[in-house]
Amino acid sequence: MAKVVLAYSGGLDTSVCVKWLQEEKGLDVITFSAELGQGLNQDELKNKALRSGAKKAYIEDLRESFLKDWVFPALMAGASYEGKYLLATALGRPLIAKKVTEIAEKVGAQFVAHGCTGKGNDQVRFELAFSALNPSLEAIAPLREWSLKTRSDEVDYAKEHNIPVSATKENPYSIDRNIWGVSIECGELEDPWKEVPEKAYQLTVNPQDAPDEPLYLEIYFESGVPKKINGKEYGIVELVEQLNKLGGENGVGRVDLVENRVVGIKSREVYEAPAATILHISHRELENLILDRETAHFKELVSQKFGEVVYYGMWYSPLREALDAFTRKTQEKVTGTVRIKLYRGVCEAVGRKSPNSLYDLSLATYEEGDKFDRTLAKGFIKLWGLPFRGYKK
Ligand code: ARG
Repeated sequence: MAKVVLAYSGGLDTSVCVKWLQEEKGLDVITFSAELGQGLNQDELKNKALRSGAKKAYIEDLRESFLKDWVFPALMAGASYEGKYLLATALGRPLIAKKVTEIAEKVGAQFVAHGCTGKGNDQVRFELAFSALNPSLEAIAPLREWSLKTRSDEVDYAKEHNIPVSATKENPYSIDRNIWGVSIECGELEDPWKEVPEKAYQLTVNPQDAPDEPLYLEIYFESGVPKKINGKEYGIVELVEQLNKLGGENGVGRVDLVENRVVGIKSREVYEAPAATILHISHRELENLILDRETAHFKELVSQKFGEVVYYGMWYSPLREALDAFTRKTQEKVTGTVRIKLYRGVCEAVGRKSPNSLYDLSLATYEEGDKFDRTLAKGFIKLWGLPFRGYKK
């Protein structure tokens, strides 16, 4: 029988996908699930995949590689989408797609599949990745094809086909979670006028309920990569988990955004990304000390473009690689420490130092010891203004 490798989360959609691919398409289904920090129960998930009809279920803990090769390049680039979304979901997709492709090649599958809806960004990200990595694979998106219209249609289908459905009480939200953040949509969030209800949040406390005492942290970066918190060295997974915990306790990292999807729709998304917020703010602050003005200003263009490219699903593209090459060059000297203050939902840098700092007190000071030669300013200003001399006369 022909084979399909399905990106499987274990939720209702992908569980129904397993059976549907088998019944409607007559395929042998092999599932792949990635632990990206959402907290999988591997045994349970494997069982569920097999009981839903999968012939084989692969699961892999990819947190380390996710951070190292997907998240940190975006952090170093300063990438966000529309200035607010730190791309947790968007960064995970090309990695999952890569693994699905590798398994398809290994088991000789001609098809790959995902459980994304037909109006979201994630279908685009998966399928662009599949097509860049192996254009001979054919992608199937059951949710775009099947006649199941609502969630309760899916539940009925699951019951009919003995697919295990978790008995957890109905959650009105669609939640995608990994170590870099949580994306929350649907339910009452679809009304952009309504404030996000407290129960939608998964990992941050309401800033109103956060401790009435600031928390100071010192974050040390080496060539753009975070290495230490308060002088203590951490593995990358532990470091990010620790910042999620501390940020979450202080209500840091909540985002409420009406965003422009790739497919042209505007949608209201809520994000929680405590560690990502802390690391973006501190990394940027360190760069302010180290990068020369022209590189720093040019890098802002790269940040925006990098964010768009990731959001649009173009991870595997020459443009993303070129932006990455620029970014990596800029990170060579981004080593040093930033002191961060977390207080009731606010994260701000309050101190920064680096052996590669371009900040020169003897040039900046208005006190004793000033070495800036102010006599040069007169000629400089004359030449700087030469192009516009007399322009408004
Ligand atoms: N809007 C985000 C993105 O496009 C998140 C999408 C998935 N969100 C979700 N709640 N399932 O990357």
